[in-house]
Parts: sequence; C-alpha cells; structure tokens
Amino acid sequence: MKQTSADSRMTVSGKRILLIISGGIAAYKSLELIRRLRERGALVRPIMTAAAQQFITPLAVGALSASHVYLDLFSREDEQDVGHIRLARDCDLIVVAPATANLMAKMAQGLADDLASTVLLAADRPVLVAPAMNPKMWAHPATQRNVQQLQQDGIHFIGPMAGEMAESGENGLGRMAEPLEIVASVESLLDGGEKPLKGRRAIVTSGPTHEPIDPVRYIANRSSGRQGHAIARALAKLGADVTLVSGPVSIADPEGVKTIHVERAEEMRDAVLDLLPADIAVMVAAVADWRVATSSDQKIKKQPGDAPPMLSLTENPDILKTVGHHAHRPTLVIGFAAETQNIEENGRSKLARKGADLIVANDVSPESGIMGGDRNRVKLITRDGIEDWPDMDKNSVADHLARKITQMLETS
Ligand code: C5P
Repeated sequence: MKQTSADSRMTVSGKRILLIISGGIAAYKSLELIRRLRERGALVRPIMTAAAQQFITPLAVGALSASHVYLDLFSREDEQDVGHIRLARDCDLIVVAPATANLMAKMAQGLADDLASTVLLAADRPVLVAPAMNPKMWAHPATQRNVQQLQQDGIHFIGPMAGEMAESGENGLGRMAEPLEIVASVESLLDGGEKPLKGRRAIVTSGPTHEPIDPVRYIANRSSGRQGHAIARALAKLGADVTLVSGPVSIADPEGVKTIHVERAEEMRDAVLDLLPADIAVMVAAVADWRVATSSDQKIKKQPGDAPPMLSLTENPDILKTVGHHAHRPTLVIGFAAETQNIEENGRSKLARKGADLIVANDVSPESGIMGGDRNRVKLITRDGIEDWPDMDKNSVADHLARKITQMLETS
C-alpha cells in the first residue's frame, strides 16, 4: 500500500512570497513556515521587525530562506539593492506571520515608521495576516476594531487559533495558525481566480440528523456541521455549483452555496436523490443509523408509577451507499468515516461496502476533540492507498480536499 503525504499541487511553486516577521514568541514557527514554503518551490524574501529579532535571529531566517534578510528602512545597502517600494511590489503575496497587535494597529492606521509597516503601506499585492498574541490582547476592542478595518481594506486573515499560549499557558484565541495551515491559505490565495471545478455539480451533506421520538424529543449526535460546511464552501470557491443538504446545525449557511435544510435521515436522502445527477457527492453528514420505529404524534407523558417507555428503533437509509450504487452515480463519491478504533481497516471496508471512491477517515474518540471542534486529522483511503494528512483546521482540510477532488476528476 502506497503512503503519500498531502499533495499541495503546484500553486506555490515559483511564487515570490514576501514574509514579514513581527515580534512575538510565535516567530519560531515562522522558521518552519519558511521551510514549508520553500519545499513547495516558493521563493521567500524575509523582512524582520526589530522586535522579531529579539525572538529569532536574522542568521537563522537568512539560512532557511536562502535570501537576504531585510531589517532596516534606512539601510543604504538595502535601499540600493532593492528599495522598500520594490520590496513591496516584487512579490506575488505578502504574508505577515506572526502579526502582532502592534503591527496590525499600525497597518489599520496607515503608519509607516519602520521597514515592515512602510512596505505594507506601499504594497499593492494581496496580504495575508497570521495574528499571534495573548487572548486578552486579541479580544481587546481596539484590536477587534483594527481587525475589522483591515478586513474592510481587503486584508486576508488566517487564525488566530484557540489553544494554549506558549508563554503564559493561558487558553484562548490568540495562538498563531500552524505553518501548514498558513501554507494552505497561501495556496488558496494564489489559486485565486482559478476555477477548475467550473461546470461541475456537487452535492454535500453536513451536520447531524434529528430523529423524532415525539414532537418535542429527538435522537441526535454531536456533529457540528463545520467540516461539511467548509467542504461545500471550498468546492464553491473552486467554481463548482454546490448544493449543501444540511441537518440541524447552529452555524451559518456557507457563502456561494445553495443550502437545503432538513431534519431527518429520510428527508436528507430524498433531498440528495432529487439532486442527482451530479459530478461529485461528498457525504459528510453524521446521519443517525437508527430512527424510532413509530414516533409518537403527541408528547409522551410521564405517568406516576409507569415504567419508562420502550423505544423500538429501525434502521435509517444509508445515503452514501444509496448514492454509491445509484444508476445516476456521480463520477466521484466520497464518504467520511468517523471511527474511534481501527481507523484504516474500517475505512477500507467502508470504501468497498458503500461503493465510494474515497473515504476520509478520522478519529473521533473523545480525547481527539475532533467532533464539534475546529480541527481535524484525517486519513484518505482510496483503492490505490492511504494518505495521512497532518493535523489542520477544518477549513484547511476542506481546501486540500477540494483540490484532491479536482485532481481525481481530472484523472478519472
Ligand atoms: O457507516 P458509517 O455511518 O460509519 O458511514 C459514514 C459515512 O456514510 C459518512 O460519509 C456518512 O455521511 C454516510 N452515511 C450516510 N447515511 C447513513 C449513514 C452514513 O450517508 N445512514
């Protein structure tokens, strides 16, 4: 069985990335970011603020990037070499990682008092910002005002993520996105405008189903719909005509996608079958395996002295299996496998049983924090082998999966 790593296609290869490193402990992750970008063939030109140099050295940044490291606005040598205006323009994308609250405040105000802020003010290229700061600083109304302003100005954001802070051990929103998550955002920004799935119809299911016991009670599960919704959005970004069939969730409908809301598995099945034919089906919903055989039309009343009611369950339709064996089977049928043990083995048997081309298997044991959380670690199981993807946020998994789908369609 062949083992490959997540394929990041060629979007980054040969692209010129201006990496601005500002001063925070997360700067150590920028060294790894430089490596990840360079191994994909990107050319990385670094700028470091004075504060960044307190955390990592220009020597390390220079060695890993194989580039001159730009430090000073008033360096006669650097100005003669490239000059700050050309630094800002001679690139395909500017990445600020880590972006401190201070640098973001300067960007929002248009201040230019050092090389990094001056270049950012002179830039006419897309800018991606990866904030990193203490959760209290991130949550501060001043920072939030600046973020809003920067978003209005067209600046792109990745993170910050939730988690433990390196310095204080505090938990909360403020941790810089992991290097591979930043790489995924870089890829999708550089992909911009490319619509390889234009003209393809995709159906995505997402969320849990609610199976009624009576008019007020139901059987449900912990699915949040985040992964399925992110996949619908990612496919739409690549130009696909996407319909999302969503069970009851508390998150917003994704932009650029037609969303059909359902409650029960049978409604979800009907909605999906109505959408055939299609090119792509990605069945992410955590469909309840069973429903109550005869749900009550009236609320079941608790009577003093009565034994609890017996619930008799019956099997729900398997939507993935139905689609995988349908006369109008989409070219690409993809299922998810939420497992707590024997992930690969169960994924492989599911591939065969459900008639799928790809099973995305993940570990949903309670300690993984995946169910309902914002991260995911998946293995992709096809007839040709297994790909083991690193831990990423669910949006990055979705972006990578959308690219994988594009590739599979191109070669099918
Ligand atoms: O068999 P299992 O529930 O583990 O399979 C998971 C995969 O099958 C997911 O892709 C899920 O969306 C799909 N599924 C379905 N209908 C069901 C049960 C699962 O579409 N009734």
